[in-house]
Amino acid sequence: MPQQSILVVDDEAKMRRLLEIMLTQMGYEVLQAENGRVALDVLVRHEVDLIITDLRMPELDGIGLLKQLREQNNDLPVILVTAYGTVNSAVDAMKYGASDYIVRPFELDAVEAAVQRALKLAKVQRENRYLRQKVEQGWHGFIGKSPAMQAIYTQIEQVSATKTSVLIQGETGTGKELVARAIHQSSPRAEALFVSINCAAIPADILESELFGYSKGAFTGANKERVGKFELAEGGTLFLDEITEMDFNLQAKLLRVLQERSLERLGSNRTINLDVRVIAACNRNPRQAIVEQKLREDLFYRLNVFPIILPPLRERKEDILPLANFFLAQHAREFAYPFNGLEDEVTECLLAYPWPGNVRELENMMERAIVLSGGKKISITHLSSDILGAYQHKPAVTELSSTLSSAEVVPNNTGLTEQVEHLEKQLIEDALVKTNDNKAKAAQLLDISERSLWYKIKKYF
Ligand SMILES: Nc1ncnc2c1ncn2[C@@H]1O[C@H](COP(=O)(O)OP(=O)(O)OP(=O)(O)O)[C@@H](O)[C@H]1O
Ligand SMILES: [Mg+2]
Repeated sequence: MPQQSILVVDDEAKMRRLLEIMLTQMGYEVLQAENGRVALDVLVRHEVDLIITDLRMPELDGIGLLKQLREQNNDLPVILVTAYGTVNSAVDAMKYGASDYIVRPFELDAVEAAVQRALKLAKVQRENRYLRQKVEQGWHGFIGKSPAMQAIYTQIEQVSATKTSVLIQGETGTGKELVARAIHQSSPRAEALFVSINCAAIPADILESELFGYSKGAFTGANKERVGKFELAEGGTLFLDEITEMDFNLQAKLLRVLQERSLERLGSNRTINLDVRVIAACNRNPRQAIVEQKLREDLFYRLNVFPIILPPLRERKEDILPLANFFLAQHAREFAYPFNGLEDEVTECLLAYPWPGNVRELENMMERAIVLSGGKKISITHLSSDILGAYQHKPAVTELSSTLSSAEVVPNNTGLTEQVEHLEKQLIEDALVKTNDNKAKAAQLLDISERSLWYKIKKYF
């Protein structure tokens, strides 16, 4: 631990000297000031862990100093020094937030005990404040105080100090990328890069050169040398998103790189050593993916050293309203609309809905609600049709027909085919919004094949 420093404030040089000797002997660094005014100046220029101040001093006395600090929201611990006759005024001064007082003449033990107590208390208060902030103001952008999420925050803190590989599992939109970034940002690697690559979005051969880089002439079209994502993440973190979608052979190559902590660029035999922390994510059950031969078992064990499993939103209902309010306020600010809260019925709807697209779906729905509300209180007319259907607990078929009969959703005076097509288009649109335009996931949500989704997209859009 770095040496802690204490500012001694007293108008009598002899008293300052006495405390300096005592405190230096206890291992603290000592700064001095001859009154409250000078002490405030010292604090501008130096970091201090504790103040020990006399009560009576010219210019600015001990209580005045204490009051000014608290007015500036400075909660440094302050110990007051008092003589026998003035203990009462020291006790009074405690109400301004002094940690303790010590009575002159000093006893070395009493001073030491008071200093240690005050520093320890300040540390606990700092930690409490940090924990409170973490849950209330969105630690690393997280909103949600549910026990399930608090357990996730703890896991992030535990693993971030290490270089261990992490596998984050969770349904779409549960916050896997947010977790990966939080691990990087709270790790000693935060100064280096967080490099992210989505294995589902890139064809296998391109993914290989993206990951490992290539040398000039490695293949047709490689007319320049190129650094891969692994090298880019040197000293930092590489986030391999949707790892189960990576080509099976490429997975073997990845495993080799992870084990050997080195790689050769494609077309080169120069070995490059790596210091990269790898975080992978998947939104399907990895053990199932192993059975389906989508994920190599050996790679799974290499990555799954520290698993983090994100709970779906429907399993942490207490987070729904704080998240909804957060997103509403955020988007309201963005559009310069006022935010006037939610009608009770909306609250009920939000709580009853199973949120298949999780936090991302909630965020998108709240953005849409703010736009539709134009700054008025959010009512159920500002929510989308799927959430209303779920709220009314209607089976899918009734939901379909009720949507069909709604003049708002389907144009009037059209035949059955047009109405069905219109509805189909809407459902596809919703699924694409929910999955952030991920066709594979949208097809899963709609329970149709990816091919037929492509076909329908071509037909309707
Ligand atoms: N607990 C949370 N608090 C605040 N915002 C969150 C939280 N969880 C997720 N989000 C937000 O929801 C959106 C989706 O999160 P993220 O991209 O991390 O999900 P994901 O699990 O990676 O999804 P996918 O599997 O679809 O890639 C992001 O905008 C993210 O900031
Ligand atoms: Mg993601």
